[in-house]
Amino acid sequence: EVGSDARTDLAGRRVLMTVGPTREAIDPVRFIGNRSSGKMGYALAEALRARGARVTLIAGPTSASAPVGINRVDVESALEMEAAVMARAADCDLFVATAAVADYRPVCAADSKLKKSADEMTLRLVRNPDILARVAALPTPPFTVGFAAETEDPEGYARGKLAAKRLSLIAANRVGAGPGGFESDENALLCLWPDGGRRELPLMSKPALAKALADLIAERYAKRDA
Ligand code: CTP
Ligand code: CA
Repeated sequence: EVGSDARTDLAGRRVLMTVGPTREAIDPVRFIGNRSSGKMGYALAEALRARGARVTLIAGPTSASAPVGINRVDVESALEMEAAVMARAADCDLFVATAAVADYRPVCAADSKLKKSADEMTLRLVRNPDILARVAALPTPPFTVGFAAETEDPEGYARGKLAAKRLSLIAANRVGAGPGGFESDENALLCLWPDGGRRELPLMSKPALAKALADLIAERYAKRDA
């Protein structure tokens, strides 16, 4: 048994990933965002690259710097992320969606800075496309890996997303109060795949967890047509 860094089971495989949050413009100076740090996504990108994969990141705005040897395309909004992904999705072997994509965006962004006037204001929002579901619905989809950030019942909701989006693998984590999640340095994952497959990756540092998840992705990818 060799160390996982020396494994080359993903050698030459093209991995397309989304990472970080998206920003949905309200006006030129304001946006709707979320608490994703992108840490788990960047750690997973490094772990996959260490196994020989050729990784391209479609990255929302984070403070993380681009890892060496990884190609990064910077985007801001969900629509920009979708366009950047769909332009490349037919040419990848695996698609890994770690981004915290905003589910809704303002119907239209104002051209100039909004001024305050009334005591109340209402923002009209419209649903963003589901990037992961679109990739998984391609005629010949890549091996698709999704995440499910949940504050409750991670197993139930993640099983539902795995089936609804027709994914190859999903990794669920609890977010909100307690250890693990968005701004934390540690996390735990419950990984599920079709036909009842299940593996728990216990609470550990995000780099260690990313390695464990890369191991599982490589293992499931090797069995993809079985
Ligand atoms: N995702 C995506 N595009 C979106 C929304 C989500 O690609 N517009 C991806 C995420 O990157 C993640 C998975 O879908 O891999 C699940 O995201 P999540 O927010 O947990 O689930 P949703 O399907 O958006 O459902 P909800 O937020 O209602 O729980
Ligand atoms: Ca969502």
